[in-house]
Amino acid sequence: MYPCIDIKLDGILHNISLLKNKCKENNIDFCLVTKMLVGYKKLVEYIIDNADIRIICDSRIKNFSAFSEIDVEKWLIRSPMISEVEDVIRYSDVSFNTELDVIEKLNVEAKKQNKIHRIILVYESGDLRDGCYINELSDIISECLMMENIQIYGIATNLSCVNDTLPDKDNMADFDDTIKKLENHFNRKFKVVSGGASSSIPMLYKNELPESINNLRMGEAVYLGNIPVIDEPFENAKTDNFILKAEIIELKSKPSVPGVKLEETSLIRKRAIVALGKQDVYLPGLKCVDESCTVVGGSSDHIVVDVSDSETQYKVGDIIEFNMSYNCVLNAMNSKFVFKKSFIK
Ligand SMILES: Cc1ncc(COP(=O)(O)O)c(C=O)c1O
Repeated sequence: MYPCIDIKLDGILHNISLLKNKCKENNIDFCLVTKMLVGYKKLVEYIIDNADIRIICDSRIKNFSAFSEIDVEKWLIRSPMISEVEDVIRYSDVSFNTELDVIEKLNVEAKKQNKIHRIILVYESGDLRDGCYINELSDIISECLMMENIQIYGIATNLSCVNDTLPDKDNMADFDDTIKKLENHFNRKFKVVSGGASSSIPMLYKNELPESINNLRMGEAVYLGNIPVIDEPFENAKTDNFILKAEIIELKSKPSVPGVKLEETSLIRKRAIVALGKQDVYLPGLKCVDESCTVVGGSSDHIVVDVSDSETQYKVGDIIEFNMSYNCVLNAMNSKFVFKKSFIK
């Protein structure tokens, strides 16, 4: 059935194995970010079992509710909404937090459910997404130490999410310094110091991450082998783990620009329309596997591919294959119109 995504689980396991080994060399725990798998329990279970994963991270509590029977530590890595604290306590073991108001609600709910909820506080390292500066962190920690059902598990930071800020020696030294100051001030060691995501790979491979960092959370590099921002694969990564396949529903020669009659121009191109649209994929992130074909446009339900220069003689009913950027895969995985194919049923 088309459109579909062919998911190569072997390639994903291969990437995890390389990254886990590199983390191990640096005494770093590896966490698998599962948001790409949008709640598909069988896929997550398969990866956890075959890659020996201890911690999974997701940004959506709804995904965790689908994984409640999977025996693994679950970290919610987007600050909870107050309106979802009940589910956060029920379905996650740990949540990332930046707002005292939310933590207070978590504490109340954890008490109701007779649980101790662990939190990781997020430090703002300069990417300007979620995170607190050191004084606020210090204030929040002081408050949390008095909460009966909240346990401070550690400190995390995020980079390369909103502003393409890469981890570097300066921002990592600043994070390390913050950890040390907080540990000295509170006379305690944080169990988890989570220093970043796939964009930390260049520093990880050069053994340049500060020693205080004992955890990384990775998504994009696992699934697509790609280092975000730099937009290059890491060493020996498998990059074609998600191939999108769509069926041609129209194939015609038309002018290369709109508003021109066929008989008025010699600039005629062969254009294939595939049954897939902007409601399924992020168009700029779509690239034909056949490099002589180009995505030239699209609407909510149609994508137009220029196939004029291809050696393949495409016809209606044929399949065009696409590589996708991370955001594009996320959209396609979330589309109920796109079938997901892996060898697990
Ligand atoms: C807090 C947090 N940690 C880790 C990740 C994983 O990032 P990446 O896919 O670049 O490894 C994300 C994004 O998905 C995130 O928001």
